[in-house]
Amino acid sequence: MSEAKRLAGEKAIDYVEDGMIVGVGTGSTVAYFIEALGRIKGRIAGAVSSSEQSTKRLKELGIEVLDANAAGPLKLYVDGADECDPHKRLIKGGGAALTREKIIAEASETFVCIIDPAKQVPVLGRFPLPVEVIPMARSLVARRILALTGGQPVWRDGVVTDNGNWILDVHNLSITDPVAMETELNQIPGVVSVGLFARRPADIVIVGGEPPKVL
Ligand code: 5RP
Repeated sequence: MSEAKRLAGEKAIDYVEDGMIVGVGTGSTVAYFIEALGRIKGRIAGAVSSSEQSTKRLKELGIEVLDANAAGPLKLYVDGADECDPHKRLIKGGGAALTREKIIAEASETFVCIIDPAKQVPVLGRFPLPVEVIPMARSLVARRILALTGGQPVWRDGVVTDNGNWILDVHNLSITDPVAMETELNQIPGVVSVGLFARRPADIVIVGGEPPKVL
C-alpha cells in the first residue's frame, strides 16, 4: 500500500510550478510528496503547512515554512484523505490535522488530493468521521451528533490537536448528503471543524498505481 502512496505523492509534483508557495497537508501519503518537494526545493518559494509534523519535515529538508496569513491565497494544496467519493468529496482528519487542512484547502485555488486505491468509496462514512471539538464541549457535541446523525461518537482519548483541542470519531455513518451533514455539524457550538471536505471538495484526485490515475 505504501508503494501506491509513494506513486501518488510523487505524481503530485507535476502540479508544482516555479516560484509557488505550496500548501502541504499531513499524513503518510503526503510524506512522499514532501520528500519529492525537497528534491525540487530550489524551484519553490516555500510552503504553508497543515501540521507540526509536516512543518518539522519541511524544515529538515530546507524548505521555508510560511505563515498562512503572510502567504495569502495559494495556487496549490496537496493533501491525502481517509476516504474519497466519486464526486471528490472527502473524509479527512485521521491524523487529527483537519482544521488546518481545511483552512489551507479553502485558501487554495487547486486542491490536489493524493490517495491509494483503498481510499475510494461509493459513499462516505465507513471511515469514522473526525470532528475537532473545544474540550469543554466534548460531551455536548457527542450528544448532538448522536441525535442528529444516529452515528456513534467516540472520543479519541489521549489525542490533543495542534490547536489544543480534542477529536470525536463518529462511527456507523452512511453519508448520502455530505454537504448537508457538514453544514449541520458545523453549527453545533463547540465544533471547531468537521472532517468532511464536501463544501470544498478536491479539484483533482491522484490515485496511486502503476501508472497513477488522475481523476
Ligand atoms: C490527516 C489527514 C490525512 O490526509 C489522512 O488521514 C490520510 O492519511 P494517510 O495519507 O496517512 O493515509 O487527513 O489529518
